[in-house]
Amino acid sequence: MRVIQQIDALRDQMHGQNRVAFVPTMGNLHEGHLSLMRLAAQHGDPVLASVFVNRLQFAPNEDFDKYPRTFESDCAKLEKEGVYVLFAPTESDLYPEPQTYRVAPPTQLGDILEGEFRPGFFQGVCTVVLKLFSCVQPRYAVFGKKDYQQLMIIRAMCRQLALPVEIIAAETVRDADGLALSSRNQYLSQTERAQAPFLYQTLQAVREAVLNNRQTEQVGQTAQTTQTTQTIEQIEAQAMQTLVAHGWNPDYVAVRRQIDLLPPTQAEIDAHVPLVVLAAARLGGTRLIDNVEV
Ligand code: PAF
Repeated sequence: MRVIQQIDALRDQMHGQNRVAFVPTMGNLHEGHLSLMRLAAQHGDPVLASVFVNRLQFAPNEDFDKYPRTFESDCAKLEKEGVYVLFAPTESDLYPEPQTYRVAPPTQLGDILEGEFRPGFFQGVCTVVLKLFSCVQPRYAVFGKKDYQQLMIIRAMCRQLALPVEIIAAETVRDADGLALSSRNQYLSQTERAQAPFLYQTLQAVREAVLNNRQTEQVGQTAQTTQTTQTIEQIEAQAMQTLVAHGWNPDYVAVRRQIDLLPPTQAEIDAHVPLVVLAAARLGGTRLIDNVEV
């Protein structure tokens, strides 16, 4: 695997490659990231990964300097996965001058859910991803469903800006007890780690409640109206209360349409429009996010 730091050297190395599959990361790689590399290899050739901790997506209260940097072990893992090039620019390589041109996602997508609790986050993500795409010029790029809103926002960015990149969505990798793999899991104490799968269990309970909420179901040839037990708002509120009762501090539990992350109408729920339940909650000092599709 070649490790390349500078944009010009990357361009020289990748000249003439038009099926590159790209996986951008911030390093501190775990099995979830490695699954993205494997999915990338199924789509394009060669696979190119990046490791860059992007200051633009950190709020002043989020500690950019403390973000875990594990470059040597990241390289060893990527090498083992058969990654062809690792692009690992320094801040001055990628941002040689203040990055005053930014990519701002539309507020109805970028300022909700994660965007409400992490203002500016998606602007930072979109700006770096567009810049990385410009450096790497991939044909495919892989993003995990674990960061569902990020995936939707990047997809919409590529569509609106007509970028010649196909975005591939990777399923979330979970530990045996259901906890979604995340770099943040390492901050959990032993007791918190035991409690952490409860977020996924809560999401699954919400999923069940949403399925039960559907107002009509086909029985034989006749459509029968079933009793609606709870509205979506009640289901979300109850999930928040359950998390609080178990010692969590939730930011949101939200049932949304997969297509645009807006709240579904009852008619859409009844019509089986694809939905996703998303949640963010703090356990002790660690903020976890997760989601399940419905
Ligand atoms: O998901 C991440 O790790 C980051 O947001 C990304 C896409 C690498 C941009 O810095």
